Amino acid sequence: MNKRRFFLRQVAHTSAGVLLGSSFLSAATRNALTGMATFPDAGADDDTFWEQVKQAYTVNANMINLNNGGVSPQPRAVQEAVEHYNRLSNETPSYYMWRILDQGREPVRDKLAALAGCSPEEIAINRNSSEALETVIFGLPLKAGDEVVLTKQDYPNMINAWKQREHRDGIVLKWINLELPIEDEKTIVDAFASAITPRTRILHVTHMINWTGQILPAKALSQLAAQHGIEVLLDAAHTFAHFPYDIKDLGVTYMGTSLHKWLCAPFGSGMLYIQKDKIGKIYPLLAAPDPTSEDIRKFENLGTRSFAIEQGIGHAVEFHHMIGTERKGKRLHYLKNYWVEQAQSIPGFQLHTSLKPEWGCALSNFSLEGRDIGDLSSFLYNKYKVHTVPINWENIHGIRVTPNVYTATRDLDRFVEGIWAYTKT
Ligand SMILES: Cc1ncc(COP(=O)(O)O)c(C=O)c1O
Repeated sequence: MNKRRFFLRQVAHTSAGVLLGSSFLSAATRNALTGMATFPDAGADDDTFWEQVKQAYTVNANMINLNNGGVSPQPRAVQEAVEHYNRLSNETPSYYMWRILDQGREPVRDKLAALAGCSPEEIAINRNSSEALETVIFGLPLKAGDEVVLTKQDYPNMINAWKQREHRDGIVLKWINLELPIEDEKTIVDAFASAITPRTRILHVTHMINWTGQILPAKALSQLAAQHGIEVLLDAAHTFAHFPYDIKDLGVTYMGTSLHKWLCAPFGSGMLYIQKDKIGKIYPLLAAPDPTSEDIRKFENLGTRSFAIEQGIGHAVEFHHMIGTERKGKRLHYLKNYWVEQAQSIPGFQLHTSLKPEWGCALSNFSLEGRDIGDLSSFLYNKYKVHTVPINWENIHGIRVTPNVYTATRDLDRFVEGIWAYTKT
């Protein structure tokens, strides 16, 4: 066994031990975790292992959820951790929340930083990508006339936040319109480069475009930004814990993500990364004693919130390690290609996402020529109980399909059967 594989195997083994060491786990959860740990070397196409992973979730047996792009369910082990910490909090809230559970935030920060590939001093824990990214958008010292480059395919909350600054502070938004999918780095870098002027201060980059699953080359765009002495804000809502990368390697200045997406952490958990030497200049969204402090914790003045949710993040990281980011990325890519390769022979099938791992992963978007996507999505749900989401945004019109680690290949067979059936209506 090579060294890397041995290391990953050890990590998975340790994480299984950590989770199984929790006194509050149900028998069903213990069985599922033990089952997963039985196949340390299973690959992306080894359904015996992935069936065990499915057992570790509590998915609806009568519905096939292919909208994991919206939000992911939590594994049983995470749900039970949140329930445990919540019950504990309710025994004596001010004591358990402020004196006990609040102390657990630093270990969670350490775990997230290790997974992200940066220092814990660069990670703030919060509630979601919107909060993380808007902290930077509203906290940046920009003045009238300063320019921001962004795309028409970015996420609405982020677009609205930038527009609010445009309206209030007179900053200037420079829009790029991407024709997706794109499988060429230069095309994307050139599009951003063409919008840069001497007034540009920052590039807003969506790491994975949520509408179609297109991956943007964050590292190349950071290099472009560096050549112009400007910064990059990375919307990593869809990429953290989805496929492997290190924040430091990407070289972005700021990054925000939702942990309730691909990490499968509790609903309402997120993370903000700020390069250490930039923390001081970003004002927090919720005031701290010293807004110019260089301590990343100044972004955590959220007041009273669910400490049970924060603590559940630590359990989600351990569960994630039991699969491993590399193996997870490969499986998600495998599942996407699995259904698309079957669907490609359906008359009129059009895919709006790349099948290459550098340009896409779990998330994809398709349409049927001449057919209404809303009608198709309703048909899939009404007749096959397959849950998808129709997307109509700017130049993108198609059905978004997002499997997750608990999706079985038989679920995807049924989904493709549903598309075939629709073509006969
Ligand atoms: C690209 C992108 N950015 C930001 C968000 C916002 O995430 P949240 O609702 O968790 O704040 C989403 C949500 O789907 C997204 O897809």
